[in-house]
Amino acid sequence: VSSLHSIVPQTKWSALQKEAMSTLTSQFTVSTTKLQQLTEAFVQHMNEGLTAQKGACKDLAMIPTYVTGRPDGHERGSYLALDLGGTNLRVCLITLKGDHALESHQRAFKVSDHLQEAHVSELMDFIAASIKDFITSEHISSKIVEHPSDSETLELGFTFSFPVTQTAIDAGVLLRWTKGFCCPGAVGNDVVQLLQEALNRNGVNVHVAALVNDTVGTLLAHSYTHPNTFVGAIFGTGTNGAYVETTRNIPSISSPAKEMLVNIEWGNFDKDKEFLPLTIHDNKLDKESINPGVHVFEKMISGMYLGEIARNVLLNLIGQRILFGGVSSEILNKHYALETKFMSDIEKDTSSTLTATATILEQELNIRNSTVADREIVKTVCQLVGNRAARLSAMATAAVIRQGLSNGIQEKHRHLLRVGATVVSAVDEKDVINVGIDGSVFEHYPYFEGRMTEGLEELLGPNARHIIKLGIARDGSGVGAALAALIATKNN
Ligand code: GLC
Repeated sequence: VSSLHSIVPQTKWSALQKEAMSTLTSQFTVSTTKLQQLTEAFVQHMNEGLTAQKGACKDLAMIPTYVTGRPDGHERGSYLALDLGGTNLRVCLITLKGDHALESHQRAFKVSDHLQEAHVSELMDFIAASIKDFITSEHISSKIVEHPSDSETLELGFTFSFPVTQTAIDAGVLLRWTKGFCCPGAVGNDVVQLLQEALNRNGVNVHVAALVNDTVGTLLAHSYTHPNTFVGAIFGTGTNGAYVETTRNIPSISSPAKEMLVNIEWGNFDKDKEFLPLTIHDNKLDKESINPGVHVFEKMISGMYLGEIARNVLLNLIGQRILFGGVSSEILNKHYALETKFMSDIEKDTSSTLTATATILEQELNIRNSTVADREIVKTVCQLVGNRAARLSAMATAAVIRQGLSNGIQEKHRHLLRVGATVVSAVDEKDVINVGIDGSVFEHYPYFEGRMTEGLEELLGPNARHIIKLGIARDGSGVGAALAALIATKNN
């Protein structure tokens, strides 16, 4: 079920339906050759981003993070962590206990639609108030052994999952908003300063010690439990990756450290649409989005958009009178009405007449009286969109690993990771390349991981399955922010 080969024309389909679905299948299928071409372009763009002059606008921003080491699981201490990157703000207290163990207390606060568009000072005041609330209601100070008195300043790591050009581990300027946020007053300003000012303004005795992207947090958090993690990736509302680069490959950085984590901002890969296999449905989504022309790659992969691509395809089929007898519903006509989680449930539906799919269509989208053939079309559309997303995710991951094979950090894996390599059956734990992953799509979208692994094998050969370990770094953003705060305060 995991692969595209299982998508076969259904016997119940009419000739017109078969024809339309075969066209869609070829539009949404990314062949191995195409994936290879994309991987090569991706690696090249990574290197162009690394060496670009300041201010040059490359698709891959390749942001140096000023994080120059990776945890090994022996770190200890209590830190506050803040995670902002989608519809929830999370405030956490993370206690690192050494021996790869930790404890976490946390609370989520909803970031309303209003706040996602309000002036940034209003957003930051909301964050400061949420931190205050968390500290008071959870009696945080008493839980921190190292900081027993209320007057002590708490150190905080801030995971801010948007493109930020960093100038230090605790300073960075917002490049652009993504994922539906558009608060004025933020782009071009230092987000740490904006937050610190709001904390001071609201009388919250907390010091912002470190700023990290969620991918960087995920890499750090995964390293705490799996030392030698090489990649941190998010496949959730948005998508992005961070990895370990040798400092000599980052001309803008002069640091005695050997390695530095780099935030790729891969959602913006191929913004000029030179290589990506975009369909009319993707172009429609991009045009109608609040940030047309940017993050087109993210718009093919991440949870915020998959449902919308599928909705565009369904509306197109309805328009051709190939689906639902040519009749849509008011709900289905609304932007973003088809949520990615409905696609998950539809892909999971293996009943012969697709009864779960019928229920979703009826209860969530007000499409009544769908036929079995209709539902098979809907499910196939979800499979096409979901499989393409997973394969493109594999491509980005493979490209980053290819960079590691050539930048010296994962060099020893070179002979094992290529198409046609001698097959090894088992790999020693120390020879594994760990990829820490967080995000709802990876965690909950059915077959996503299997499809990704298939793609990795096509790109990096038969040993990819054994050598590359895709692991869930649940709560990577929270734990990673705490680890970043620890690294930052220890370095001072
Ligand atoms: C978007 C953001 C990026 C973040 C990703 C995953 O692509 O620009 O910074 O890492 O979403 O949350």
